Amino acid sequence: MSGMSDTTEAQARQTNEESMLESIQHNHLLGLATYSRPEIELILSTARQFREVLDRPIKRVPTLRGVTVVNLFFEPSTRTRISFELAEKRLSADTVNFSASGSSVSKGETLKDTAQNIEAMKIDIVVVRHQSPGAPHFLTQCVDAAIINAGDGAHEHPTQALLDLLTMTDRLGPLDGKRVSIIGDISHSRVARSNIHGLKAMGAEVTLCGPRTMIPFGINEMGVRVTNRLDEALEGCDVAMALRIQLERQGSVLFPSLREYHETFGIKMHHLHRYQDLLVMHPGPVNRGVELASEVVDHERAVILSQVTNGVAVRMSVLYHIAGIKRNESTDGD
Ligand code: CP
Repeated sequence: MSGMSDTTEAQARQTNEESMLESIQHNHLLGLATYSRPEIELILSTARQFREVLDRPIKRVPTLRGVTVVNLFFEPSTRTRISFELAEKRLSADTVNFSASGSSVSKGETLKDTAQNIEAMKIDIVVVRHQSPGAPHFLTQCVDAAIINAGDGAHEHPTQALLDLLTMTDRLGPLDGKRVSIIGDISHSRVARSNIHGLKAMGAEVTLCGPRTMIPFGINEMGVRVTNRLDEALEGCDVAMALRIQLERQGSVLFPSLREYHETFGIKMHHLHRYQDLLVMHPGPVNRGVELASEVVDHERAVILSQVTNGVAVRMSVLYHIAGIKRNESTDGD
């Protein structure tokens, strides 16, 4: 792993030997549903090493020199887009940014044609956010580049879940038996889906909580507990992960009012007083006064900005592992 210190490289080797895994077994990162615990642990341990790079005065290593990454964003984003771009720059990759607005998509060009035209300019990795579930899977059939899912509709947002797992393990250690409650609009949430896969793989117990209209039918088949009572979700819980109410994805209003939602499902200061060890997380962007009381957002037990910091290190790790696979493929010729 060029650019890391000798100690860091030694730690990386030791960790990899311990887990008996030196690389992930996937060409793409489409979701966490197909990623094993050792693969997730490898990504997190590499992210911890890259986090050291981010604390240096010169926050750049040559690891991905010569690799070209396009960030293909068909939906708005602040955190994911900026942290992918920073991760690519920190790894010395060449980076190209694409937004649907202002592109030829507005003239009717399809996703397939857009991707194939961009790939014709010699791209190695595509990071894609799209409103349609399955768009990253579809791209794997259209282009040879490695695909990283940066959020596809209500399907998956794997790098968000990985940065959430990193933030949780930093605070709690191994997640076996730890209790995590995901609260809010589960039906529309790719963050919830990826976190369920990741948390279950890491041995955590997951509870989902929200209005009945926002809990998908049959979700308990994923091995999660479901409740409509916030106190039941928070009692004995280590982490409360509040989800954004996604008004832009709702076909109809699924609860009477934002004020009532906050009263019933919003995490407020009295919850932090009652549940003294509870950590609060949120993927952002936060609707202050809806999912979380404004004072809770700013409380020291809300680790929302640590999640954002970890996002850069996790995305460096994902890019590193995905690019490694592509390099091995071209070297091995298979
Ligand atoms: N958490 C997250 O995906 O935020 P953005 O939409 O700002 O990227």
